[in-house]
Amino acid sequence: MGELGFSWCSVLAVFSLVLNAAVFCNGGITSTFVRKVEKTVDMPLDSDVFSVPPGYNAPQQVHITQGDHVGKGVIVSWVTVDEPGSNIVLYWSDNSKQKNKAKGTTVTYKFYNYTSGYIHHCTIKNLKFNTKYYYEVGIGHTIRTFWFTTPPEVGPDVPYTFGLIGDLGQSYDSNKTLTHYELNPTKGKTLLFMGDLSYADNYPNHDNVRWDTWGRFIERSAAYQPWIWTAGNHEIDFAPEIGETKPFKPYTHRYHVPYKASNSTAPFWYSIKRASAYIIVLSSYSAYGKYTPQYKWLEKELPKVNRSETPWLIVLMHSPWYNSYNYHYMEGETMRVMYEPWFVQYKVDVVFAGHVHAYERSERVSNVAYNIVNGICIPASDQSAPVYITIGDGGNLEGLATNMTEPQPKYSAFREASFGHAVFDIKNRTHAYYSWHRNQDGYAVEADSMWFFNRFWHPVDDSTSAQS
Ligand SMILES: [Fe+2]
Repeated sequence: MGELGFSWCSVLAVFSLVLNAAVFCNGGITSTFVRKVEKTVDMPLDSDVFSVPPGYNAPQQVHITQGDHVGKGVIVSWVTVDEPGSNIVLYWSDNSKQKNKAKGTTVTYKFYNYTSGYIHHCTIKNLKFNTKYYYEVGIGHTIRTFWFTTPPEVGPDVPYTFGLIGDLGQSYDSNKTLTHYELNPTKGKTLLFMGDLSYADNYPNHDNVRWDTWGRFIERSAAYQPWIWTAGNHEIDFAPEIGETKPFKPYTHRYHVPYKASNSTAPFWYSIKRASAYIIVLSSYSAYGKYTPQYKWLEKELPKVNRSETPWLIVLMHSPWYNSYNYHYMEGETMRVMYEPWFVQYKVDVVFAGHVHAYERSERVSNVAYNIVNGICIPASDQSAPVYITIGDGGNLEGLATNMTEPQPKYSAFREASFGHAVFDIKNRTHAYYSWHRNQDGYAVEADSMWFFNRFWHPVDDSTSAQS
């Protein structure tokens, strides 16, 4: 018996060594989930999700975003196609019959042989926190009514739930992603969008009709809760071959953001406070080197974040800094070199990016020690560093990124080539529950999750590998 016991111990010891070796050789987990094999294709123009609302000059493509720095403002945007119509938004709170009026502006633009409809933007200011409001657009012809709920007043222990989608596009898979987000029982109250909206630029002459269809597609969510916008490469629409040389023309005409409220000088980088979160949006496709407007803005912005007011510091950008897929590999590297020391210094909790059409979550790592001559250039575990999440898996027509670098780098905690969405559910100043939902499982199943410990208030190791 003694011998048998000894030999079993030996076997177990060897087995556990092999297991440990497997864990330590790989950076983290590469999911074995096998994705569906069908091609990703755009929904046809006559799809019901693109349908034009009935009625003369009916407002369409209605969407809202935050309209000030603290969440008491909302920008309402919509398009009319027959004539300019009214710029007015009528709005009233749930418990009041008194209708208030806000006046907006109208813009149009041409892109090669395309002429836009009348694009309206109206900022409603000084709303009450934590209040449901109804609003009407299309006054005078065909009125349409929607509603939204303002966030609670900014404060350190205010629970709040953000949804996360990137690189959505307008394919059948995009529709699944959006539907799953809408049906997720952990109701997202505001959507953080990591860039690459319509993918209209994949069509001949960047067919801007696909910007219109995308606006109608997302209305069912974006008219009722704010979508916080980040610019991606598909927003650049730079096409000198057809005479279109002004970058971001369709995007900036269609999607307004409250950049002036955070003293930004351009709509591509800005910040908002919302509940207990401070959200900084950066642009991978605007100059970010030293002395540039974005650099100077971010340098002044980070010290302004008061973690006693907004404990959760979240950064959005399009091109990821830590990515282990063979797609867009190292495209975020130059920006990482410029800004990563600040992210560590100011203890950013999490960075969300898109661009790579797959899912990945990093460990808390930094790579800031290198000074050209010292050779210290490998990402190191760093509890002051953010977790980097790539969530460019909204489902656009370009399909999934399936080819990964091997072996999985140590900085990569979990990666999987599936479409999906995520939810960041802030509980209080110390804890937030994050979950990623692959489309194949429906909306209620998590394929990846993590309890985030706030870097300022509870800077305890929260890595999933440390817990296992
Ligand atoms: Fe992209």
